[in-house]
Amino acid sequence: MTTPFKRGTVSLRQINGSARSKKVRVDLGEEASFKTFPSPVKVGDAAYYLVQGKDGYKLLSTLCPHQGGEVMDEGDEHFVCDGHGWQYSKVDGSCDGRADFRMKAFLVTVQNNRLVALVPDE
Ligand code: FES
Repeated sequence: MTTPFKRGTVSLRQINGSARSKKVRVDLGEEASFKTFPSPVKVGDAAYYLVQGKDGYKLLSTLCPHQGGEVMDEGDEHFVCDGHGWQYSKVDGSCDGRADFRMKAFLVTVQNNRLVALVPDE
């Protein structure tokens, strides 16, 4: 006999998925120390760009969502992937002309004038 899932019930698969993507809080430093955006940030071995948009700060992963190339900032209007040259917005990481692709974004909050990010524990 099986019990049907009720609305709002979290499946075991969802729990396992969230456990795999455990996140950690990382203090990026004083908010005032970030003067220009995007600003490159390293957390462990992972590289990000700190960006500032209408909805606040976020970290965008430099790992390309297409096939894992490196998304680079070469000073142009957009980020560019070294894999196949796709271009991404420097504000929200959306991909030009490909609505189904976007740079992975992670929450950054301001706490006591410091930027604190929630990023994968890698
Ligand atoms: S790997 Fe980035 S565009 Fe293909």
